[in-house]
Amino acid sequence: MAQYSTESRFPFKRPRRMRANDFSRRLMAENKVSADDLIYPVFVLEGENKTEAVASMPGVERKSLDNLLVELQEVVSLGIPAVALFPVIDSAKKSLMAEEAFNADGLVQKTVAAIKAQFPELGVITDVALDPYTSHGQDGIIDEDGYVVNDITTEVLVKQAVSHAEAGADIVAPSDMMDGRIGAIREALEEKGFVNTKILSYSAKYASAFYGPFRDAVGSAGNLGKADKKTYQMDPANGDEAFHEMALDLNEGADMLMVKPGMPYLDVIYRAKQNFKVPVMAYQVSGEYAMLKAASANGWIDEKKCVLEAMVGFKRAGTDAVLTYYAKDVARWLKE
Ligand code: PBG
Repeated sequence: MAQYSTESRFPFKRPRRMRANDFSRRLMAENKVSADDLIYPVFVLEGENKTEAVASMPGVERKSLDNLLVELQEVVSLGIPAVALFPVIDSAKKSLMAEEAFNADGLVQKTVAAIKAQFPELGVITDVALDPYTSHGQDGIIDEDGYVVNDITTEVLVKQAVSHAEAGADIVAPSDMMDGRIGAIREALEEKGFVNTKILSYSAKYASAFYGPFRDAVGSAGNLGKADKKTYQMDPANGDEAFHEMALDLNEGADMLMVKPGMPYLDVIYRAKQNFKVPVMAYQVSGEYAMLKAASANGWIDEKKCVLEAMVGFKRAGTDAVLTYYAKDVARWLKE
């Protein structure tokens, strides 16, 4: 690695020389954030003309489709390439077998079709996981002990992913962490002729406490109660395990890898990019957003500077795109 001796040659070597001027700092900047690096997550509600704030995520709103389409006009004009869609499902439609997940007339399916009709160029990413649809808030089907049963869950996930593709989703993003689901989904998509539907696999999804505000936003926190997701999401202590997961998902047909959460897992992002040389995305999750918002609201940090620093940090680590609740703000700040 080190081509040069670390023996100090001061004053011949002065690293500050290059930092002394704005022009030289610009010339040597290794990374740059652009609107092309952003994915904007949105929460969709049933009904009409509804917009609701999410208490633990100031600035994030849950909207009915009509109001969402108005916001997407802004997302498109800001140059953001894609949105990730998360549904808020009425509790009456939640069940043990999560049948609503693959309803052709379901909220996600209707929303995807409407977005693609109005904004054909905007990439639409759908979440493949059952937590919005299960009465217990787990990402899959459970047995009598509450254990999420892998293969039965995968069958439902396949139906869900195919229904998203049929509605027009560009990218399906399994975030459930079942074994073998990427291969099963890929096979079904191929069979149905969806050869260009991309799979963004949440290969390295950790059992994180930083998801708290999201579970409030989609209303799964109450259903989940005190239960956790540790039998399928990964232990935050593990790095190598993520590479096993990623290798499997790539072999099964994933096009992109997602690391989630983001900021506490930059090492995983770095190693993913170094190892696999495939598109790597990061999810700056709800708890990360909430921390930045809360500190900014208190005047403890400079929101714009801290968020842009976090974004360039993601790039430096090797991220190709960042899914962030700050996407619109970042795109706006970059234009200033
Ligand atoms: C689950 C899912 C989660 C998030 C998005 N989809 C996590 C979970 O509840 O386990 C979290 C996103 C965030 O915190 O911003 N399929």
